[in-house]
Amino acid sequence: MEYMLEMNHIDKRFPGVQALSDVTLKVKPGEVHVLLGENGAGKSTLVKILAGVYRKDAGEIILGGQKVDYSSTNDASKLGISMIYQELNMIPDLTVAENIFINREHLKGWPKHIDWEKMNSEAAKALKKLNANISPTQKARRLTTAQKQMVEIARAISADSRIIIMDEPTASLTEKEIGELFRQIRLLSEENVSIIYISHRLNEVKEIGDRVTVLRDGQYIGTRDIKEADTDDLIQMMVGREITQFFPKCVAKKGKEALRVENLSRKNVLHDISFSVHEGEVLGFSGLIGSGRTELMRAIYGADGDVSGRVYVDGKEAKVSSPKLAVQNGIAFLTEDRKNLGAILSFPIYQNITLASMDQFSRNSVIDHQAERSRSEELFSMFNIKAPSIDTVTRSLSGGNQQKVLLARWFCRDAKIIILDEPTRGIDVGSKVEIYEFINELAGQGKAIIMVSSDLPEVLAMSDRIAVMREGRLTGILDREEATQEKIMKLATLG
Ligand SMILES: Nc1ncnc2c1ncn2[C@@H]1O[C@H](COP(=O)(O)OP(=O)(O)OP(=O)(O)O)[C@@H](O)[C@H]1O
Ligand SMILES: [Mg+2]
Repeated sequence: MEYMLEMNHIDKRFPGVQALSDVTLKVKPGEVHVLLGENGAGKSTLVKILAGVYRKDAGEIILGGQKVDYSSTNDASKLGISMIYQELNMIPDLTVAENIFINREHLKGWPKHIDWEKMNSEAAKALKKLNANISPTQKARRLTTAQKQMVEIARAISADSRIIIMDEPTASLTEKEIGELFRQIRLLSEENVSIIYISHRLNEVKEIGDRVTVLRDGQYIGTRDIKEADTDDLIQMMVGREITQFFPKCVAKKGKEALRVENLSRKNVLHDISFSVHEGEVLGFSGLIGSGRTELMRAIYGADGDVSGRVYVDGKEAKVSSPKLAVQNGIAFLTEDRKNLGAILSFPIYQNITLASMDQFSRNSVIDHQAERSRSEELFSMFNIKAPSIDTVTRSLSGGNQQKVLLARWFCRDAKIIILDEPTRGIDVGSKVEIYEFINELAGQGKAIIMVSSDLPEVLAMSDRIAVMREGRLTGILDREEATQEKIMKLATLG
């Protein structure tokens, strides 16, 4: 049997969108098969059909040589297909073992009752296989993101999965955790489990993948061996054109100081941080995940209490003890945690775009709907958001396109100081370039920009200066000319 899985001629339509048409995916036993494509290309839709979340409109699924038909995630899991969800659907008040065996608890005796001992020992076995130092009896609530992901993988293993789907699994993991995940993926593939892996990080894809299938606009473009495919070819397949300038940095004219932070501290989290950023400047923030960058931005934005220190806007001390005050002082913040602090999924796209700038569209408490809509239209096409119209409900957008809506929101606001926390996470290569161009444009207009990013090449290319943090401290600020990957890593790890 050459293929563990064949998906042939798959079609799927949502209202107003042909998400997939005549798509093929063929996965060999034990391989890591990468799915690549721009935001909205149909990657998540395809794997959700495989996982039984959505029903296909047409096409066939052949699993281990046999045609199968099913319509629920439960059925898919019985056939040995598991999906590690991005949202990591764990029940916080249940134990790790309970989460692993949810819906398929081990029963014994008469009347039947749950065999806790067996469940805990089976869970321990699956976790041990992954080399995970997690107790089966601890509550899921206390797990880190990486640990939750591990528990989900343990769940897939204990269900004897033949195919495990991972949709952007590394989006919120640290470098070290990514290394651990890759080790686990290799273990699984040695046991002949096939992995379907979705990611926008091409370096990562090269490292972990065996073969890759590319989708564009819901269509199948091709499948390649990763060893034989070079990055430029893959990008060309994904976006349908060549991209020559990945980082179109323009250095803008540096104006006067826009924001200055002095001795900012928050107990156990931030220690005595001082820096400034000027008009027309992009100040990058680098550091390992957990180094306190997001906490610092939240402190400047007034999102948390118990912060000491001073913030100056245009040379005057500014009270930023609440987000409302920060906004009044001309500070905008695009948050990294888009699920919780970001888009209102039940709103149409245009309302999410204008949400933070309604003052611009109202006169004497009357909203100028025409102006609101036309500004939204403008940003909608500028950001190339893939949806039927600005009235489309935000929930129905692909992950990357939901992020673009949030970016559009902060570009809609007329703020002087713009804080972007991981602005290109989950965004495809083509759209990244567009976002960089907006950043240039804003800097050109004299705005001060702070960009937190874990993507080193991005920070190096797009910043005028780079601040590096480690364990809640600012360990250094490098000029564009002197900054290198090595210098940043040194400041990020050794301080
Ligand atoms: N539940 C839904 N209702 C309506 N439309 C949907 C739904 N889910 C996805 N779509 C649409 O189907 C298309 C494909 O979306 P999908 O989520 O598969 O993209 P993706 O390749 O995973 O993108 P990303 O990289 O941004 O995650 C998009 O146009 C999206 O708006
Ligand atoms: Mg997706």
